[in-house]
Amino acid sequence: MAGLNKVTVDDINVRGKKVLVRVDFNVPMKDGVITNDNRIQAALPTIKKLISDGGKVVLCSHLGKPKNGPEAKFSLKAAADRLAELVDTKVVFAADDTVVGDNAKKAVSEMKDGEIVVLENTRFRGADETKNGENLSKELADLVDGQVFVMDAFGSAHRAHASTAGVTKFVKETAVGYLMQKEIQFLGNAVEDPVRPFVAILGGAKVADKLNVINNLLDKCDTLIIGGGMAYTFLKAKGYEVGTSLVDDEKIDYCKEMMAKAEQLGKKLLLPIDTTIAASFPDPIDAEIAVEVVDSDNIPADKMGLDIGTKTMELFGEAVKSAKTVVWNGPMGVFENPVLAKGTIAVAKALADTDATTIIGGGDSAAAVMQLGFADKMSHISTGGGASLEYLEGKVLPGVDVIAEK
Ligand code: 3PG
Ligand code: MG
Repeated sequence: MAGLNKVTVDDINVRGKKVLVRVDFNVPMKDGVITNDNRIQAALPTIKKLISDGGKVVLCSHLGKPKNGPEAKFSLKAAADRLAELVDTKVVFAADDTVVGDNAKKAVSEMKDGEIVVLENTRFRGADETKNGENLSKELADLVDGQVFVMDAFGSAHRAHASTAGVTKFVKETAVGYLMQKEIQFLGNAVEDPVRPFVAILGGAKVADKLNVINNLLDKCDTLIIGGGMAYTFLKAKGYEVGTSLVDDEKIDYCKEMMAKAEQLGKKLLLPIDTTIAASFPDPIDAEIAVEVVDSDNIPADKMGLDIGTKTMELFGEAVKSAKTVVWNGPMGVFENPVLAKGTIAVAKALADTDATTIIGGGDSAAAVMQLGFADKMSHISTGGGASLEYLEGKVLPGVDVIAEK
């Protein structure tokens, strides 16, 4: 399995032991209600395995970005309640603003084998968590008698925090969970040992967010496709008029460099050959909007490109058809607007129809694929936004690095 030779939950014996599991329950919430429980669902295989093996499962996670300590709206209670509906065992939420205070200690001391305690949001401890403080790392480890730590929070594995990394210094055994294993297997295989042709598709608004991803994927892939807002900086770098489209002027030289690199390596770099334009960005985002499609070298000075055009949909679709591995990160246009979702839908459809292994990076692209109804047609949809991007950059994620090798 490319990129992974870590101890997994299949290699450890947790019977009768307390096991601290870092999950990513950083789920989207609106007015105290979870709007998408994917990340909780994705953690279930590991949780169920540890329960059925007779472990006492203590779950920890962050939620959101609380700035000044504990805040009711960032409590993990809603996630614990949702989890309780999904498993057949007792789930106790340890309401404790200090995360590992008296409530948590009491709840854990009363656990029976196969039961679950969910701790409060680790970011309620502020810098103790986010600056990887030894005190919180040690408290978390002590809570499970310094025994076992399982890392299953792929979405947070790019953070070197107390609950994702620091805690491992104070426990006897570490392992990755099934979600981590699956994420690393799919993303790792795609990048390190892809079945070729390997086509990478990047979109999203800003070139600046994907500099290292573009650079790394150009080395690894056979064809790199660029769409979305970031394509206009590339088109401007080619000398085209791009009207009022989103452009990152500081990154024009970078785009030129990448185009030269693609040529030098003999890699295909596909940019939109036509584009869907409008007078301005839709406001609100799903407002009715009049659009037209023009060739990419024919964008009027007062118009804004907001999606790929029809010929480009075909061009990108053809590239996907002959691929054996496809990685996609970032929408092709303003997919929140039905008129400007066509490019993203076309790419999603092309991926759904291909026999290739298809891997969707987390964040916006995952949201788009799910919202557009193609989720079950993909080989893998990552639960990590920032984490999957850093993986595609070729970085070693701290939360992966700290887990013991086999
Ligand atoms: C995410 O949603 O990206 C992860 O849960 C990490 O959250 P963070 O970006 O707040 O660290
Ligand atoms: Mg994030």
